[in-house]
Amino acid sequence: MKTIEIEGAFYVAAAEVASLAAMKSKAFTIDLGDQGSCEGFLLREHDRTLRAYKNSCPHTGAPLNWTPDQFLTTNGRYIQCSIHGAMFVTETGECFAGPCSGKFLTPFHVLEKEGMSYIALTEIQKSPSK
Ligand code: FES
Repeated sequence: MKTIEIEGAFYVAAAEVASLAAMKSKAFTIDLGDQGSCEGFLLREHDRTLRAYKNSCPHTGAPLNWTPDQFLTTNGRYIQCSIHGAMFVTETGECFAGPCSGKFLTPFHVLEKEGMSYIALTEIQKSPSK
């Protein structure tokens, strides 16, 4: 687990994002040792803002994607769960259509540094996937 410290807070390397295009997404897994792992995904907004969420649908807790890095609708504007089709706003993770309407994905604070994404360690420790 590669970590960096910024202003007293620790961040863990999640995935390379230098090549992540706008309106595209990418999965990541962070090994937490005895605590299991944290499964999440990154997405890049049209203005190149990077966002990160836990890969867990608020409807059932299942992973959202059915192919490795595909978390967005084909036009890249929304997050979509592959199981029952719930749709989420990319900026906030709020579900606006589908069986979990009004609920939110779990967001992670993400930093981008020299082409790598880093997630706040305290947040992923609170959200192990397994
Ligand atoms: S598991 Fe995601 S919408 Fe049902």
